[in-house]
Amino acid sequence: MPRYKSPHLLVAESGADREGHGLKRTMGLFQLVCFGVGAIVGTGIFVGLSDSVAQAGPAVVVSFILAAITCVFTAFAFAELGGAIPVSGSSYSFAYAGLGEGTAFLVGWCLLLEYGVSVSAVAVGWSQYVNELLDSLVGLRLPAALSAGPAEGGVINLPAVIVIAMAAVLLVRGVRESARATAAMAVLKLAVLVAFVAIGFTAFQDGNLTPFSPEGLAGIGAGTTAAFFSYIGFDAITTAGEEAKNPRRDIPVAILVCIGLVTVLYCAVALAAIGAIGGDAVGGRPAALSYVVNQVTGATVGGGVIAFGAVVAIASVVLAVMYGQTRILMSMSRDGLIPRVFERVSPKTSTPVAGTLIVALVFALPAAFAPLDAVVNLCTIGTLAIMAVVNIAVIVLRRREPDLARTFRVPLYPLTPLLGVGFCLYLMYETGRATWLQFAVFLAVGAALYLLYGRRNSRLARVTPTDAAERVPQGV
Ligand code: ALA
Repeated sequence: MPRYKSPHLLVAESGADREGHGLKRTMGLFQLVCFGVGAIVGTGIFVGLSDSVAQAGPAVVVSFILAAITCVFTAFAFAELGGAIPVSGSSYSFAYAGLGEGTAFLVGWCLLLEYGVSVSAVAVGWSQYVNELLDSLVGLRLPAALSAGPAEGGVINLPAVIVIAMAAVLLVRGVRESARATAAMAVLKLAVLVAFVAIGFTAFQDGNLTPFSPEGLAGIGAGTTAAFFSYIGFDAITTAGEEAKNPRRDIPVAILVCIGLVTVLYCAVALAAIGAIGGDAVGGRPAALSYVVNQVTGATVGGGVIAFGAVVAIASVVLAVMYGQTRILMSMSRDGLIPRVFERVSPKTSTPVAGTLIVALVFALPAAFAPLDAVVNLCTIGTLAIMAVVNIAVIVLRRREPDLARTFRVPLYPLTPLLGVGFCLYLMYETGRATWLQFAVFLAVGAALYLLYGRRNSRLARVTPTDAAERVPQGV
């Protein structure tokens, strides 16, 4: 039977195995896993845990498992598509291949929430632990005016702006490509959380887990939406599709390893924290993990060590997520959907310098002035929408492109991607009315931009299937 590929799939995957794009293939499986852990483990567990506990109580463990299940279904979808279409555009490219240009543009637009706005949210979380670290090192905290936005009683969140600026400088210099730095940061943050679990369990008391679910199912649902933020980032691994040595084999494995690893870790951290001092003491507390350790050990040294780990961990999330954002914008820019400035790679540094600086400037603004909750909710709903689309793209491509070379296939198809869509919609529903309204406005602006700019400048729309086929190596 002759192999058939739709024009959309051909143009979407024409970035795979591309030579001369300025990016180098340097990442093996270990580096991809470290990159994934780097992008995932940060503000969500170090800061957001206390919000999830405030909603769900000890049943936050159930919330973490539900959020993980949502991610696992979608991780399967990312693993299948990341192995089949290994380009740096991630879900944007998958949506292009499966659902066409208009949907792909909106997915790319929502990726600004998942990546860009989450950089802002993560940076806001970073400043809590900077304060905690300063407190344990020199007994000082930054004044509220300089460490919180106006909605939280301050003027500007300076540490949040500083961490974004530092990440931009490192990315411009090409430091993300330093495998050693990425691996060291991933190992450090895992070690800090494992140490936290060990300390927490020394003080574990069964009684602290009762009542297990003070707010019932509603609390668990709200807790799940809050917990979901801590899983965001696993799909960033697919943005390294053009820099991985063997993307078709390693990207699916790296995604699944990362999601399994962090799920076990998050549940253990939640149990250790609540088991040690009780849900009421953890819920809503800033820098909660440091507080738990200080309470258990009776000294501030342990909390200081945790704060140091959190400062490094969260900074590495900013770095990894900003990297992902610049690569996605590169893909969209190459396709003509956004201005070409985002695709320019400096010959000196082999990095997209202008794109990185624009991303840093734009997302430093919400980091400086917006409260954490507002940015987290918007980021969560946008990410869930993207995940639902990726699950749908798996189904569409299975039907339309049965012969596409898939190094990984979602198990129990079509049940798994359908459940993936269902879980995403449920968690989107839980984000609440205000977030839905903001999201609707955001989508409307995106649709207008596509009609006014993207559709008119699209390069892909002008690529014929024959052109695209010539750009794709055989055997893809
Ligand atoms: N999952 C990332 C974090 O928790 C966004 O920081």
